[in-house]
Amino acid sequence: MQLATIVASVHLLVLKMLGTGAIEVRRPSSSQGGSSLLEYGSDAGGQGRVFGGVTSHFTQTADDKSYWAAVGMKNKVGVTRYQNYELRHIKRSDGKFFWADSANREDINFTGAKDLTASVTWGWHHPSGVYNTIPVGSPLLDDQNNIYIGADDAIRKFDVNGVIKWSYAPRGQLAAAPSLCPAGARRLATSDMSFGGQEDMVRPDWAKGNNESSTSSQLTRDFRVGDMVKVKPGASYWVDGRELFRVGDEGMISGVVPDEQGKDSKAVILWTRSGDKTVMQLHLMAKRFSHVEKRDTTLPAMLVGSTTSGYVFAIDLDSGDELWATWASNEIAGVKGSVACKGGIVVVATDRCTDRYCYRYRNQTNPLTPGNQWVRGLSAADGSSVWQYKTFQPMWSMIPLWGPGTSVMFQDWEGRVYSLNYLTGAEIFKVGGDIGTHTNAAAVYSPGHNTVIALGVKHYTNGRCNPYPAPGILPSCWTWPGTRGFVRAYNASSGRKVWELETPEPPASASISALNSPSFHTRLVVTMGHNCYLGASSQIWGLDPNNGHTRWIKEGPTLWTGFCAGDKEGADIRRAMGGREKCHPNSWSMPVADSTGDLYIGNQVGELMRYGLDPHSTSTRPELLSTLTTGVAFQDAAIAFGTGVMAVTTCTSLIVFHTMDDWQKSTWSVSHSDYSPISDKVHGEDLSHEISEESHGSIAVTPKVDSDDIWSNDEPVYDPNIDGGSSAYHRQAKEQDNALSY
Ligand SMILES: *[C@@H]1O[C@H](CO)[C@@H](O)[C@H](O)[C@H]1NC(C)=O
Ligand SMILES: *[C@@H]1O[C@H](CO)[C@@H](O)[C@H](O)[C@H]1NC(C)=O
Ligand SMILES: *[C@@H]1O[C@H](CO)[C@@H](O)[C@H](O)[C@H]1NC(C)=O
Ligand SMILES: *[C@@H]1O[C@H](CO)[C@@H](O)[C@H](O)[C@H]1NC(C)=O
Repeated sequence: MQLATIVASVHLLVLKMLGTGAIEVRRPSSSQGGSSLLEYGSDAGGQGRVFGGVTSHFTQTADDKSYWAAVGMKNKVGVTRYQNYELRHIKRSDGKFFWADSANREDINFTGAKDLTASVTWGWHHPSGVYNTIPVGSPLLDDQNNIYIGADDAIRKFDVNGVIKWSYAPRGQLAAAPSLCPAGARRLATSDMSFGGQEDMVRPDWAKGNNESSTSSQLTRDFRVGDMVKVKPGASYWVDGRELFRVGDEGMISGVVPDEQGKDSKAVILWTRSGDKTVMQLHLMAKRFSHVEKRDTTLPAMLVGSTTSGYVFAIDLDSGDELWATWASNEIAGVKGSVACKGGIVVVATDRCTDRYCYRYRNQTNPLTPGNQWVRGLSAADGSSVWQYKTFQPMWSMIPLWGPGTSVMFQDWEGRVYSLNYLTGAEIFKVGGDIGTHTNAAAVYSPGHNTVIALGVKHYTNGRCNPYPAPGILPSCWTWPGTRGFVRAYNASSGRKVWELETPEPPASASISALNSPSFHTRLVVTMGHNCYLGASSQIWGLDPNNGHTRWIKEGPTLWTGFCAGDKEGADIRRAMGGREKCHPNSWSMPVADSTGDLYIGNQVGELMRYGLDPHSTSTRPELLSTLTTGVAFQDAAIAFGTGVMAVTTCTSLIVFHTMDDWQKSTWSVSHSDYSPISDKVHGEDLSHEISEESHGSIAVTPKVDSDDIWSNDEPVYDPNIDGGSSAYHRQAKEQDNALSY
């Protein structure tokens, strides 16, 4: 790469507004992170309040095709159109979003692209070059098929045909995949209010009708489950030297228990601060507690996210303006997992672990394994803290799953599943986990089976896991190719284990969906394989979610380079830009099935694949039906659907496919090698949008490791063959032996 040219071109960056109207473009000052180029401008009208994060507005109208990128040419915002196909603007009538977050899907009634190469409609990467930013998480689609893509430098909104709406530069590097929250009335716990019941207390008996049970039912009406209460001044309460609640504490009524005689019912209050419960007679409630008013606020539709500098933020979907940003902790480790929202609560992993729980290889330069230790519930209205919960072990890929009732479930890096009440943070259950282990995978939830599936690795058997004698835990005590993993299914209501399965490779991702192989049988699809490691093999298993029985196994590609596809090629530019030098995703993206039962998945060798039932075959096992080779690995969550559209994120780009079976052949397209690079080289660099490169799944593909590679590599280096511990793993070259000298 001609580094000098690229760096020089940074100063030449001039982004012209598409079409008419000039847009002022400046480079952000270096104090703003300076990590990457981002385009931002002030719109003439001066609309758009900015509170910290920087939003650029592009006020194009969606219907004007003159804003479309020309076919085969990258435009000024980095969009390249590959065929002149118009994707449909659609407005969902039920107000739901097509793809609001990476893990929680109510129903999938969308068809994916059947021919992955012929359906590519447009793509996006950073306007200054493919490696200038790294997307984070899957694309998100709102109720109108608008596509939101989070990346290291900014979050951008495009309409379904690739016309940019706004871009928002958050306060630092994104720490987790953002999610969309639909608009709605939210409970905002703010001002105090007296109970209606208190009024009754001061009235004479006769006025109350001297009817005990009516008073009781009046009180029962006043205290509803879900109400928030606050301890009045002077009403702190101690029992046996233990403080049950103190002035100012807030709690939620989690239940009302009628007394045996039908009078003097009791309320169960769950305290936000301590997580303790108190049972209190209703007639005492009003003396000690005040009601916290439920003020309904209508919130706009928003996108929520978090940054490694500890911020959790919400931006307005229409304008891209920041609605709030809360500094939730000093740092948030990333980039992994996702932020999610439900019922006015944003659930986010925060507080990078810096204590003994993540202190691991003490003879390495950085002995702290990245992970987060707290899960927080924030009010979607203003970002204020509603609850917090410290996990037993740190989390790495923390993806909130909306479980039964008001539960939110997720797993830590040892594969331990937690279920919390997302309104209060109270623990419902905590189960499983193999101490001392580490997984990149995240749990999945099947509402149909009421099962939550934990993915993790089994206790390391190589030894050298003792932290006490020098030199401490050694890198053999870690997850490597061939490390055995587990898949454990738990009852999502009770946490009781339903079944367990051992895997020959560390699990990477999973999904539960109805597949067409055989027709509409629900399968738990588990992918496995160590990520970004020379010679790491991979597999996909189809399991029966009821009992964990294996129905089919597919071999996946083996990574024949020491990097996930694209990470070595992009390293120089990424380092020069000051951002993340590696994307380092999982070996497989989360599998996603469409409404016809086809399974879509991306992998670390840079291939997007569609598996399904071959119509000419009698097999009931899925076959590989279509592949798009990008030469760049895919995000952990990479694939999203809307109506007529499928959008996919790699480690460099967004790729948008049309999915209509009936697309007119009259639309014309260019093959990717047909067009010449960008005509006006505004950026002094003519990296065109390559979407067809070589896969890293072939042993013949370079690059291998060079001696002059400069990685700030804090990851332990280890050859699993030395210990012979992972007996199943022998890094033997299958095609040529000398390619494997690391
Ligand atoms: C799925 O979409 C089709 C066509 O848009 C519609 O007819 C059908 O009712 C939908 N099914 C569900 C379950 O929403
Ligand atoms: C008390 O109130 C209940 C319910 O309102 C009613 O059924 C009952 O007859 C009343 N008892 C007296 C003594 O008034
Ligand atoms: C850590 O200790 C092991 C065993 O003594 C050694 O092989 C390894 O090179 C050490 N690592 C570093 C970074 O010093
Ligand atoms: C899961 O647990 C709940 C609550 O304990 C129970 O009612 C339900 O029957 C269990 N489901 C299964 C499939 O075991």
